[in-house]
Amino acid sequence: MLPEGFLLRGDWLNFNTTTQDRHIMTDLANLSIENTALIRAATSLQGLDEVRVQILGKSGSVTLLAKTLGGMSLEDRKTQGPLINALRDDMAAQIEARRADLEAADLASRLARESVDLSLPPPPRRRGSVHPTMQVMDEMISVFADMGFAVAEGPDIETDFNNFTALNFPPKHPAREMHDTFFLPEDAKGERKVLRTHTSPVQVRIMHQVNEKLPDWIAKGQEPPIRVIIPGRTFRKDSDQTHTPMFHQIEGLVIDKGIHMGHLKWTLETFISRYFETDAVTTRFRPHHFPFTEPSAEMDVQCDRSAGEVKIGEGQDWLEILGCGMVHPNVLRNCGLDPEVWQGFAFGCGVDRLGVLKYGMPDLRDMFASDVRWLEHYGFSAHSAPNPATGLS
Ligand code: PHE
Repeated sequence: MLPEGFLLRGDWLNFNTTTQDRHIMTDLANLSIENTALIRAATSLQGLDEVRVQILGKSGSVTLLAKTLGGMSLEDRKTQGPLINALRDDMAAQIEARRADLEAADLASRLARESVDLSLPPPPRRRGSVHPTMQVMDEMISVFADMGFAVAEGPDIETDFNNFTALNFPPKHPAREMHDTFFLPEDAKGERKVLRTHTSPVQVRIMHQVNEKLPDWIAKGQEPPIRVIIPGRTFRKDSDQTHTPMFHQIEGLVIDKGIHMGHLKWTLETFISRYFETDAVTTRFRPHHFPFTEPSAEMDVQCDRSAGEVKIGEGQDWLEILGCGMVHPNVLRNCGLDPEVWQGFAFGCGVDRLGVLKYGMPDLRDMFASDVRWLEHYGFSAHSAPNPATGLS
């Protein structure tokens, strides 16, 4: 029986044929039957390709037959040429059809084999965490916000005036030496900006702003108290176990009439006790010197260091926590406020250091080493970070 596709194309079978024509037609029909069987028997794409080479390759059966045309008379070529070409086209079409079938079957079996198993648990997904510094900052802000402080910010790159001069560090004054400052190259005006060495220059910015608005406020009978905290990045040329060239501070500033050291003390003691979540905090104020506060103090917290870790609220050791003092009259004046009318207090506190104390990291430098394992260990989940002001997490 002749293959279907072949028969459809096989109008050559109805030729007015000679004996020789009939002879070659029988050869062609046999070749067609044999090759069709070979094509159908191919069960893989690779097997089909081998069959294609056997039929249509350089020395394939149909190719060899086509080569005999060259040795034929013109007359024979006229009759047999179309027959052989038709056979070759038919074989090629059958091979292509078979290839399409095999490819579809291959795809179907792969889809069946590689189906997704929805019951498998998904691979663990890496989640980011809240950096301890940001967590501690949020905690500190929430404690101060609860006491009625607003949050203000200032730029990392400051003028020498705001960072030093306005804060009562006159040019060339030795007190500047205490701040290991990063200077920027001189700008076109010959001014050398600095990476701010503390958050205190934002005090100056705020007092200036307030001073500008004062007449307006006073006219409306709304004289301000200023009550702000200023979280931010600060920079000093310093690096050891407890210092990093970039660190974070929170500055506090309160300006009002009749403000005194008692307000300062209560505010800071309340803050420390809420931040460390214990009522048992004992503090002491040690006299100190800052050019921009007078009197100035450093606040220490009583702690226990005997077991190699710091425990707040017990023990006989002291730990320095922050610097503070009453805003120096010169600073008020530099910002356009009359020290006979306005008084205030300020404090500045290392955020990273308070984090280390509360959460027990052994080396401050690790805070900014961006080691993912460290971050996974010490980082906080964004959903369950504690909030000491509300007691909620
Ligand atoms: N700016 C000071 C420092 O970085 C801290 C401070 C702030 C002291 C405000 C007093 C008042 O060391």
